[in-house]
Amino acid sequence: MTAPIRVASRPIAGQKPGTSGLRAKTRTFMESPFLENFVQAVWAGFGGISGKVLVLGGDGRFFCDQAAQVILRMASASGAARVIVGQNGLLSTPAASNLIRKRGADGGIILSASHNPGGEDRDFGVKVNMANGGPAPEGVTKKIFEATHGIDYYLTLETQDLDLARNGKQTLGTTVIEVADPVADYAELMNQLFDFNMIRNLFKSGFQIRFDAMNAVTGPYAVEILERQLGAAAGSVVNATPLPDFGGGHPDPNPTWARGLFDAVFGTGAPDFAAASDGDGDRNMILGRGIYVTPSDSLAVLAANAHLVPGYRSGLKGIARSMPTSTAVDRVAAARNLPCYATPTGWKYFGNLLDAGRITLCGEESFGTGSDHLREKDGLWAVLMWLNILAVTGKSVAQTLQDHWAEFGRTYYSRHDYERLDTATAQALTHELQARLPDLPGTEAGPLRIDEAVDFSYTDPIDASVATHQGIEIKFAGDARVVLRLSGTGTEGATLRIYLERYSENSLSCDPQEALAPVMAAAESLTDLAVRTGRTAPDIIT
Ligand code: G1P
Ligand code: ZN
Repeated sequence: MTAPIRVASRPIAGQKPGTSGLRAKTRTFMESPFLENFVQAVWAGFGGISGKVLVLGGDGRFFCDQAAQVILRMASASGAARVIVGQNGLLSTPAASNLIRKRGADGGIILSASHNPGGEDRDFGVKVNMANGGPAPEGVTKKIFEATHGIDYYLTLETQDLDLARNGKQTLGTTVIEVADPVADYAELMNQLFDFNMIRNLFKSGFQIRFDAMNAVTGPYAVEILERQLGAAAGSVVNATPLPDFGGGHPDPNPTWARGLFDAVFGTGAPDFAAASDGDGDRNMILGRGIYVTPSDSLAVLAANAHLVPGYRSGLKGIARSMPTSTAVDRVAAARNLPCYATPTGWKYFGNLLDAGRITLCGEESFGTGSDHLREKDGLWAVLMWLNILAVTGKSVAQTLQDHWAEFGRTYYSRHDYERLDTATAQALTHELQARLPDLPGTEAGPLRIDEAVDFSYTDPIDASVATHQGIEIKFAGDARVVLRLSGTGTEGATLRIYLERYSENSLSCDPQEALAPVMAAAESLTDLAVRTGRTAPDIIT
């Protein structure tokens, strides 16, 4: 039998897990013992893994396969009873979350840098999930980070790589390694939540869909569920094979990185419905013929129509959105008398509310939508929600939005990202604005008057933990708002995100960027962005 070996190590800087685990350049992860140290620290974060059951999988990006072998050896060396691995090391983030819950595992590791590009010179990441299937909460990531400081060894085995292409059980040391179909359990859950017959009939009636898997992990899931089980025309799922470099693209479903799909719905021969998902399958972008649905509007539409879907027929317990997400969903919640929570950015903040049964649906403006069916956001789930709703109402996507705006009013919304800014400049800009916040209410910012200005902090209603400095929120007279925050997931310089919002009671259509111009002018006057950064336009508009 293979005995664990203890390999001497030393702490390495830069191992602070963020909202979605640890992200770094792939080459950094590849340089031993970077990955090994972090994984050993993760075991500490779990309070040891002796006798425990873990789930392991990734989005198929470069280095996923080798990293999986390293982690399996380390899991066995530290005494894990069983590791359930997706076949070929693949598991989408939602599928991993489901598997952890379904199999009663103690936690899991997902190898992904989400929507960041993959490849030897691009990004890699390790996400850590808990027994509820959700991302590790702050307390655990803190414990992991602390463990990285004091590390002086890691435990591993000296063994050959395992064959992860073959489903079934094998043993590694004293650990059972179970290679499982990555799609089957997830597809089964979707069957329980949605009316597959109804969606099948929709496709039979000639309804056309185009789903762009962006050469990432959702390909096999979408082909199985949309094409095989629901009968969408063969070829409806494009870029369906997960590639180590995602075909050289950013597997990020937004109007910039999924441009082809975006253009397709505005061109001739546009499909009725189009959607894309990201590297690890937890994000979604929804489009209809001639229309782009902002993620914030998508959340609001799903909230307003969830009762049409079998899994949500008995109604919603409550709704949550991240603070920068538009208030469109708040209006649905108010109209339906549902509790509505605003949490900091990051899926982990929904975890306690979901576990406590306070909310059923939740979402973020960053193309993340989900429900209490698991503890991650879920790209394909959102697509199926839309399809099920459209199958029941018989409406187009455009009509669905028009009707929604007519009922609840329209919340114009856009996010402007300024990427790769000089870190010191970006930090100075936000710190100075933070310092000025108490003096701002009652003053003018460009064309708008400021009503409220706060540095957002959040007290978790379940465990009373407090998260501070979660973004600057400035509310203007006339139902408009700007939020500014620095990204916690970038790997180059700083990314400043500016979230712009303006509510209009009448449902008259107007270009969102036009409707939001005064809010952007206010943001510019508050930050002197152009002068300080030399940037006159954002890198990404969503
Ligand atoms: C971004 C999104 C955030 C999301 C996170 C992980 O984080 O803005 O909503 O939860 O990715 O997918 P950020 O880079 O803004 O810190
Ligand atoms: Zn993702």
